[in-house]
Amino acid sequence: MDGTMGFAKFNSCCGCFVSSFLLVLWFCLPSILCLSNSNIITSTQNITDPETMVSPNSIFKLGFFSPENSTNRYVGIWYNNMSELTVVWVANREKPLTDSSGTVMIANNGNLVVLDGQKTVIWSTSASNISQNSSAQLLDSGNLVLQQGISNDGNNTVSGGILWQSFLHPSDTFLPNMKLGTNVKTGEKQLLTAWKDQSNPSIGTFSAAVVPLNIPQVFIWNGSSPYWRSGPWNNRIFLGVPDMQSVYLDGFNLDSDSKVGRAYLSFSFVSDPLFARFVMDPEGKLVEYRWDEENNNWFIKWSAPNTECDIYGNCGPFGSCNALDSPICSCSEGFTPKSTEEWGKGNWSGGCVRRTQLQCERSNSTGEVGKADGFLKVNMMKVPDFADWSAAADIKQCEEQCLSNCSCTAYAFDINIGCMYWSGSLIDMQKFSSGGVDLYIRLAYSEFGRKDSKVIIITTVVIGTAIIGVITYFSWMWTAKLRGRKKMKKNMDLGEVSTDLSDVGMLEDGIMTSKRRELPAFELEDLAKATNYFDTANKLGEGGFGIVYKGTLLDGQEIAVKKLSKSSGQGVEEFKNEVMVISQLQHRNLVRLLGCCIHGEEKMLIYEYMANKSLDAILFDPTKRTLLDWKKRFHIIEGIGRGLLYLHRDSRLKIIHRDLKASNVLLDEELNPKISDFGMARIFGGSQDEANTKRVVGTYGYMSPEYAMEGRFSEKSDVFSFGILLLEIVSGRKNNSFFQEEAPSNLLGHVWKLWSEGTILEMIDPALLEPSIQVEVMTCIHVGLLCVQEFAKDRPTMSSVMSMLSCEIATLPTPKQPGFIQRQITSDTESSSRNHNIFSVNDVSITICQAR
Ligand SMILES: *[C@@H]1O[C@H](CO)[C@@H](O)[C@H](O)[C@H]1NC(C)=O
Ligand SMILES: *[C@@H]1O[C@H](CO)[C@@H](O)[C@H](O)[C@H]1NC(C)=O
Ligand SMILES: *[C@@H]1O[C@H](CO)[C@@H](O)[C@H](O)[C@H]1NC(C)=O
Ligand SMILES: *[C@@H]1O[C@H](CO)[C@@H](O)[C@H](O)[C@H]1NC(C)=O
Ligand SMILES: *[C@@H]1O[C@H](CO)[C@@H](O)[C@H](O)[C@H]1NC(C)=O
Ligand SMILES: *[C@@H]1O[C@H](CO)[C@@H](O)[C@H](O)[C@H]1NC(C)=O
Ligand SMILES: *[C@@H]1O[C@H](CO)[C@@H](O)[C@H](O)[C@H]1NC(C)=O
Ligand SMILES: *[C@@H]1O[C@H](CO)[C@@H](O)[C@H](O)[C@H]1NC(C)=O
Ligand SMILES: *[C@@H]1O[C@H](CO)[C@@H](O)[C@H](O)[C@H]1NC(C)=O
Ligand SMILES: *[C@@H]1O[C@H](CO)[C@@H](O)[C@H](O)[C@H]1NC(C)=O
Repeated sequence: MDGTMGFAKFNSCCGCFVSSFLLVLWFCLPSILCLSNSNIITSTQNITDPETMVSPNSIFKLGFFSPENSTNRYVGIWYNNMSELTVVWVANREKPLTDSSGTVMIANNGNLVVLDGQKTVIWSTSASNISQNSSAQLLDSGNLVLQQGISNDGNNTVSGGILWQSFLHPSDTFLPNMKLGTNVKTGEKQLLTAWKDQSNPSIGTFSAAVVPLNIPQVFIWNGSSPYWRSGPWNNRIFLGVPDMQSVYLDGFNLDSDSKVGRAYLSFSFVSDPLFARFVMDPEGKLVEYRWDEENNNWFIKWSAPNTECDIYGNCGPFGSCNALDSPICSCSEGFTPKSTEEWGKGNWSGGCVRRTQLQCERSNSTGEVGKADGFLKVNMMKVPDFADWSAAADIKQCEEQCLSNCSCTAYAFDINIGCMYWSGSLIDMQKFSSGGVDLYIRLAYSEFGRKDSKVIIITTVVIGTAIIGVITYFSWMWTAKLRGRKKMKKNMDLGEVSTDLSDVGMLEDGIMTSKRRELPAFELEDLAKATNYFDTANKLGEGGFGIVYKGTLLDGQEIAVKKLSKSSGQGVEEFKNEVMVISQLQHRNLVRLLGCCIHGEEKMLIYEYMANKSLDAILFDPTKRTLLDWKKRFHIIEGIGRGLLYLHRDSRLKIIHRDLKASNVLLDEELNPKISDFGMARIFGGSQDEANTKRVVGTYGYMSPEYAMEGRFSEKSDVFSFGILLLEIVSGRKNNSFFQEEAPSNLLGHVWKLWSEGTILEMIDPALLEPSIQVEVMTCIHVGLLCVQEFAKDRPTMSSVMSMLSCEIATLPTPKQPGFIQRQITSDTESSSRNHNIFSVNDVSITICQAR
């Protein structure tokens, strides 16, 4: 049947009576017989060549096809909409139909079968649980499903029990959401098997699958011998695929249970609904194709193997392959070719052998005592095959474990996997030019002072000199820029003094005075006594506009007194502002103002006392920050978010804090965060979304680009600061704690670089490393990056941020480039063209990040 086609054809001349009659006949006859479903095969509804069946949204099509240069007919699934035939699955691979007399139908035993002209079954789903009333449906994912009963809703769902599905019996193509799995215990395995050649779908020599043992890897086999290996999966990437980015960018997911010996790999893309597929091609390459919508064709996104070095074990045991070297194979340091003659001829299969016997072996056999073996570090390596895994907390422990067992020949440490070690020969090592892992190879002690070290020393000196030269040049540049920045800062400070609140569309004075009256007034004398006459021993910190002291009132209540500096006149407006703003706010994540005190020149604010001081005091303290485990940090992030959301949305007024940073977040005894320091907060009228100020106040590193550069601020500039704060909390590093030698120079640049390189987990505070929380941490980083995007319109609002953090929004958009505020920002006082320069400086830094 071909209901849809018939409909289209006759619809074009629907005015004609006969056609209309035929239409009714064509269209309704099957409907009466088979519940009006055109994408389903049932016991009464079959597909005969050249009929086809499409998935509900017409993405995939099932039917009969002939490969290029072949007259054989095969039943397969291909993309419906593409001009060139792109087959993703074939049923009767080994038994082609020689003519167009084939039928796909449900057999009497309930299986989906392909019959030839003689009604002989040439292919069957061979499902063991037989149900007479089964039906087959093609889903939009490309999955052909044989199910119990008849699902007649025409939707992309399966209602009955699944008896068989093509996703578990793949041909050569791996589609999104398909599961490529292996279960050692049950022997179940999904194998991608290449076609013999482009015009013959029968099973070729190459195949690919996931191997779950020890640490899961993907393999390509040529017949039964390994041909390529992905390297171990570290929960984000395959360590042997240096151009892989991250879970987020590559869309891979691998579920495994190595104890049971089960693992399955799948991929899907969060952001765009693009077509992507991996194909095991007849030449032995695993190729990832992506659909290019603009040019309407497939392009190759990735493939492997690409070089001779990618071929499994190309350089033999202990041999290391480097595609950029000539010859490509060399023996690892401390090893020598097993047969120099064969090696010279380019026959590397024999590999290499140790030059000096390991001390642990010698002492075992002869009792000889000598210096313990050591490990040679080789960086950017594809780690050898047959990795074992051991529980070791860190690399030091990993080394100790390896050293203590003589059969351990190498180890490596990956934060996501932990300790990997190898016994016996090291097979399939490759040196990458980027990415890879540091591999530590065991050598006898005497190997470490050999002549080769001379070469190493010379190269070190040469490279060292070059690096020092470059650094000197850059620090000179930096210093020049820093000088410029200092100048600007000075200018800004002056600006702060001279402005008043009226420039931002402030509140009516009425509210201000009435509210202020409600606030308890403290006597200076009481406060002086409470703080032991403002004894420096009671100093808690020095905030934006004054010093904060701890005090104890006569009734025992602990308070924090912020004494605004009287020398600079600048505090007056901030004082009024803070009193006014904060006295109207009540939220458990905002610090509570208990009262104020005005005594001549002296102005003071009295807050509730926070036992754990400010967040920065704990977070950036190397010892104290270990107190903040992930749960606490997440609690703090959420709390700050809630406080900010309240300011932006839930309070009666819309308030922009403008100076959110770690030192303005206070922690009570239970480490509940409370936002403080409203000295710079601005209140927006109901419909106001953005304001402009000539006077940029705030803290470098937390300011959004549009605010720092153009003085524009909105709730999105607070979102930016929140993003920075979030990234600081996750990483345990201050945004501006990066040294000049470190490029990029701030946390944001650093995070973006890691994100682009797919090594984002490196930014996580080592104190937090725990695989179980990884997903949550990743979500947080992702949200943080969304908050710091360069353009305010791209940043989420605080309410979406909160939804994202609580996982109510499952699929997060991909973050765009963050707004970089480099430390070398120069003065913006001169002209607007200068502003332009600043942005291009940013662009440059971004480019550098990606290139590295
Ligand atoms: C397929 O179905 C049609 C009618 O729907 C029927 O005439 C035909 O015999 C069926 N083919 C097979 C092989 O059963
Ligand atoms: C298929 O092509 C038609 C027109 O060529 C287009 O309208 C439709 O959106 C396409 N469908 C898909 C799933 O791409
Ligand atoms: C089909 O045959 C033509 C002519 O022999 C050849 O150029 C083309 O490459 C072949 N295509 C495939 C897929 O083998
Ligand atoms: C198939 O049969 C097995 C036992 O033979 C049973 O456990 C399973 O539930 C059956 N599956 C379906 C879909 O009926
Ligand atoms: C198949 O479906 C028919 C009607 O839909 C029903 O009468 C019959 O019992 C079903 N048979 C089985 C084995 O489920
Ligand atoms: C099928 O989809 C339609 C609309 O697309 C919906 O109304 C209906 O409830 C769906 N049926 C099932 C069983 O999901
Ligand atoms: C695959 O293996 C066969 C037989 O061992 C060999 O002849 C062939 O060259 C291999 N193919 C590749 C691409 O290495
Ligand atoms: C390569 O060398 C190995 C021993 O190292 C030898 O057994 C093998 O025959 C050699 N192969 C060729 C093609 O020379
Ligand atoms: C070391 O000695 C033990 C027993 O003393 C023996 O079993 C083992 O094989 C020896 N190992 C090596 C590498 O010689
Ligand atoms: C050393 O490592 C080998 C290989 O992993 C293992 O079989 C053996 O039990 C280990 N020996 C000790 C003493 O841990």
